[in-house]
Amino acid sequence: MEPSSRSKLAHRLAEAGQSHLLQFWSELSPEEQEDMAADLEPMNFQEINGFFKSAMEMSSGSKQEKMDSRMEPVPREVLGSVTRDRDCLKQWEAVGLHCIAQNKVAVLLLAGGQGTRLGVSYPKGMYDVGLPSHKTLFQIQAERILKLQRLAEQKHKTKCCIPWYIMTSGRTMESTQDFFSHHNYFGLNKNDIIFFQQGMLPAMDYSGKIILESKGKLAMAPDGNGGLYRSLGNQGIVDDMGRRGIESIHVYCVDNILVKVADPAFVGFCVQKGADCGAKVVEKTNPTEAVGVVCKVDGRYQVVEYSEITLATAEKRSADGRLMFNAGNVANHFFTLSFLKDIVQKHEPELQHHVAQKKIPYVDTQGRLIKPDKPNGIKMEKFVFDIFQFAKTFVVYEVLREDEFSPLKNADSQDGKDTPSTARHALMSLHHRWVLNAGGHFIDENGTHVPAIPRDGAAGHVTEDVNINLKDGTDLPIKCEISPLVSYGGEGLEELVTGREFRATLVIDTTGAHELVKNGL
Ligand code: UTP
Repeated sequence: MEPSSRSKLAHRLAEAGQSHLLQFWSELSPEEQEDMAADLEPMNFQEINGFFKSAMEMSSGSKQEKMDSRMEPVPREVLGSVTRDRDCLKQWEAVGLHCIAQNKVAVLLLAGGQGTRLGVSYPKGMYDVGLPSHKTLFQIQAERILKLQRLAEQKHKTKCCIPWYIMTSGRTMESTQDFFSHHNYFGLNKNDIIFFQQGMLPAMDYSGKIILESKGKLAMAPDGNGGLYRSLGNQGIVDDMGRRGIESIHVYCVDNILVKVADPAFVGFCVQKGADCGAKVVEKTNPTEAVGVVCKVDGRYQVVEYSEITLATAEKRSADGRLMFNAGNVANHFFTLSFLKDIVQKHEPELQHHVAQKKIPYVDTQGRLIKPDKPNGIKMEKFVFDIFQFAKTFVVYEVLREDEFSPLKNADSQDGKDTPSTARHALMSLHHRWVLNAGGHFIDENGTHVPAIPRDGAAGHVTEDVNINLKDGTDLPIKCEISPLVSYGGEGLEELVTGREFRATLVIDTTGAHELVKNGL
């Protein structure tokens, strides 16, 4: 590094109170110095200090003040529900499918997270939860897109394309792209899968100093799934959507194995309501469940975290017996392109970073690597739902949890929540129900019909009409997997299953319905 550039950088750091970042400079090799300079040069330290200050202020403010008195539940007139508005479903689906057939709908995947709780070194979308097919989350989603394109094409006799925008981070970009290329884009058109990268921010200690993870490297982390909005602008994504004639975007998280990508009913509902912004929710039934709820605060929509309200408010019930604040956020959103443009051009800088307290490994002033056993600093993250407040017409769409939401967050453990096992079971029990609904049956080793008994879901969810089999008295679901290439949402299975009896493991793919002899899964 030229001495003049080095002194300019040192000056900028000194001005921002971050000079400690260069304290080991003279111990670094020339290559390490180059790398560090390349990391530091593009950083705006004043801006980062500003983010820190306002994130900390917001965090201490929200700790002191509970939201309760300012909250109102979602009014019925902005709510669509798959159970309470059954009569409208077909029509919403038709509207959505029509938009898809006109190539006006895109999907956007948030896949920039680090997946620390799951604890694998590769992107979460590459995870195989152990289905009979061993498909990864990415493949399942890709095949749902393919199938939906075909359904729209068949219905409207046109060529149809649903562009898939995939947000990665500095840590996940290369491996994600390699994975897709290695799998030939799972049959999708390569040009309709658009990878882009969200921003990264340094981790800070509680006094606002950027943390060094080694003598020549800053501790960096992605800037939260709300980093989406900055990157939509600076990576040219809204422009790309505009060029393609996209009008509606379905945004979702990588970890939900049941996600209905570009769900035509959801899209159709939002379009028909003239909404610029919509949130899919599942009913929160347990007052202490740590899920954010969609509601109004001071007249504007937002997601309120469980920690931001008192138990008394969380326990409040409406006349129908449901929790009053029961719209559980599942990070599954609808946006119009014009709304996203507005956010990118006007509102993005108004979005505040949230504080996540973390244990962040660091080098101390003696250059020793320390792995703290309690939180020693913060990561700063924006959230994808922070833009609800700017919506002019906001709608909420309630779906059944057992049909649409089973996130993969944690590694397997006994009685674990949101693990590979719960995700696998949720998918298989959904597919089991599809077979039953289409008139198929399962029999056990003795040829006896396996009863379909309503009970608590294997994924830990209490449901009204879930039929999870009690095979051999265990609570494992029937092993049954249906390729998304055969059915997107349970449709089209009759000719394969009606009146037939199956032994698990049942796999239905494009070559038909097969019972796998080996039952070892
Ligand atoms: P989570 O908040 O569950 O984080 O992300 P995570 O990275 O998957 O897992 P942990 O917390 O490290 O264990 C919810 C969704 O938001 C995306 C994730 O990829 C996931 O789809 N996300 C999260 C981003 O795209 N960027 C981020 O900076 C953070």
